This record gives sequence, C-alpha cells and structure tokens, in this order.
Amino acid sequence: MAKVAFLGLGVMGYPMAGHLQKAGHDVTVYNRTASKAEAWAKEHGGTHAATPREAAEGAEFVMACVGNDDDLRSVCYGDDGALAGMGQGAIFVDHTTVSAQVTEELYAAFAGKGAGFVDAPISGGQAGAENGQLSIMCGGDQAHYDAAEPVMDVYAKLCRRIGESGAGQMTKMCNQIAIAGLVQGMSEALHFAEKAGLDGRAVVEVISQGAAGSWQMANRYETMLGDKWEHGFAVDWMRKDLGICLQAADEVGASLPVTALVDQFYKDVQKMGGGRWDTSSLFKRLREAG
Ligand SMILES: NC(=O)c1ccc[n+]([C@@H]2O[C@H](COP(=O)([O-])OP(=O)(O)OC[C@H]3O[C@@H](n4cnc5c(N)ncnc54)[C@H](OP(=O)(O)O)[C@@H]3O)[C@@H](O)[C@H]2O)c1
Repeated sequence: MAKVAFLGLGVMGYPMAGHLQKAGHDVTVYNRTASKAEAWAKEHGGTHAATPREAAEGAEFVMACVGNDDDLRSVCYGDDGALAGMGQGAIFVDHTTVSAQVTEELYAAFAGKGAGFVDAPISGGQAGAENGQLSIMCGGDQAHYDAAEPVMDVYAKLCRRIGESGAGQMTKMCNQIAIAGLVQGMSEALHFAEKAGLDGRAVVEVISQGAAGSWQMANRYETMLGDKWEHGFAVDWMRKDLGICLQAADEVGASLPVTALVDQFYKDVQKMGGGRWDTSSLFKRLREAG
C-alpha cells in the first residue's frame, strides 16, 4: 500500500480519493475550500493538509483532479505547490482535463526535480468516479505509468498508456470530440419525440437497445426528461475542453465542424445561467426555444 496525496475534491476527486482510502492506501487530501477536505477526512478517515505542498511531502504518488490549466499550475508551482513538497522518485498523476501545452511544461518541471509526471485524464462521469469505473487514458514514461497503474486501478474500469507524455490528454480530446455531437444528437431526438407527442421514456427504452444506444443515453435520459441539471459534468468544463480540442485541431490540421458548432450551443446554455449544469442541458436549450 502506498502513501498517496490527492489534490482537488470536486465532483470527481472526492469519490476517487475515497476509493484510494478504502483500498488501504495512506491518503492525505488537499482542497482549496478547506471545509470539503475536512468533510472528506471525517467521512473516510484519512488526513487533510492545508496546502498542496504539505499533502505532497513524503507521498509516493500525488494525484490531482482540479479544473483547468491555471488551476493545475496553481496546485503545482510556488512555495505551497506540490512540486516543492515532492521528493525524488515521486510520481504526479494528473487526472484533470488540460491542454497538451501545460502537460508538456509540467512534465519537464517534474523531470527537473527527479519526479515523474503522468497525464491521466478520465472519462465515465460522476457515476464512474463514485462506482470506481472510470476509463483512464494515460501518457508518460512507461516506468512511471507502470508504477502508478496499480494505484489508479482502484477507481478504474480500464486504465491504459497510449504513448509518451501528452498522449493521454490528446486521447481525452478524442473522447470529448466524440461526445459533443452525440449529446446534441440525443437532445435533438428527445426534442423531436416531445414535439411529436411521443412518450420520451418509452422511446429511449426501445432505441437504447439498438444502434442509437450510448453511455449518454443510458445515464442521462431520465434526468433530461425530468428537467434535472444540477449534477454531472459542468457546461463550463465542457467549453474549456472543447476550446482545448479546437486549438489542438488547428495545430494538427484536423477539421471539427460539429464540435465547433456544439461549442456555440454550450455558449447559449451558459447565457441561460447553465455554466454548472450537466452537459446534457443541450436538451434544455432546445426545449426552451420551443
Ligand atoms: N465531472 C465530470 O463528469 C468529469 C468527467 C471527466 C473529467 N472531468 C474533468 O475533471 C476535472 C474536475 O472536474 P469536476 O467535475 O470534479 O470539477 P469540480 O466539481 O468543479 O471540482 C473542481 C475541483 O478543483 C478545485 N480547484 C479549482 N480551481 C482550483 C485552484 N485554482 N486551486 C486549487 N484547487 C482548485 C476545486 O476546489 P474548490 O472546492 O475550492 O472549488 C475542486 O476541488 C476537470 O478538469 C473536468 O474537466 C470531469
């Protein structure tokens, strides 16, 4: 069992850190809003630290799941940052969805200190984190990945190294590109069903068993039809991810017309006050337009 730090106890990080503690690891958590770290330690019995540095001191593995590039930099750098607290040979595992640029920058910064850096973004949503059934796509040195894999395994359905540093984040971009059009398509199907006077639930029960079935359909149709949005994967985070995808597409020369369009639809949802709503709120945008 390892000494592990976990930075960022949001929708995803809170249950992921809980799985580590339940598996018997010695876990110290850090969260910017300290009350969440205190609540986590009370619930799971681990310890909580006041700064990322304090959490990282003496840890063999430091896992992070914060918001975006700048959030990740803020928990890594500076006097109170994880990098200052990590010893030689320790490995930082980043579960945040961030750009390939920040990944490249941090990989070099950690290597300069004799520490490892594995980019390990996740998919599977809030339910995947709570049930320990995440899909984890990784980039980094093989030896660092091999050391970190058994730790990540406690909340993984599938964990795989795709390639060198940055390959995990590039794979996560593929994931988000695939999801963007899919959620809009599903929203249009439910919108059409309502307009046509069909029973949306009955429609999904049938079509989810055929070629239209997907994770989004299985896990989101109930909340979509029930007008429930305060859960899951926030629209603000999706816009962050799609921005990363569209920038990377320019760099590699890929064409992403549907992704670009759906990004604009999410901008509408933000204007409706839905920045923290789940990404399935594309349906609400259609429903409210009439
Ligand atoms: N939710 C999903 O379904 C899902 C699925 C796959 C991937 N992801 C990705 O996973 C990451 C986390 O998502 P989430 O849904 O768990 O987000 P969340 O609920 O908003 O939690 C974000 C966490 O990051 C912390 N944080 C944000 N900015 C920070 C800063 N500057 N310094 C220190 N800590 C900071 C927050 O601390 P506070 O508590 O103080 O705000 C919180 O613990 C994102 O990159 C997201 O794109 C999410």
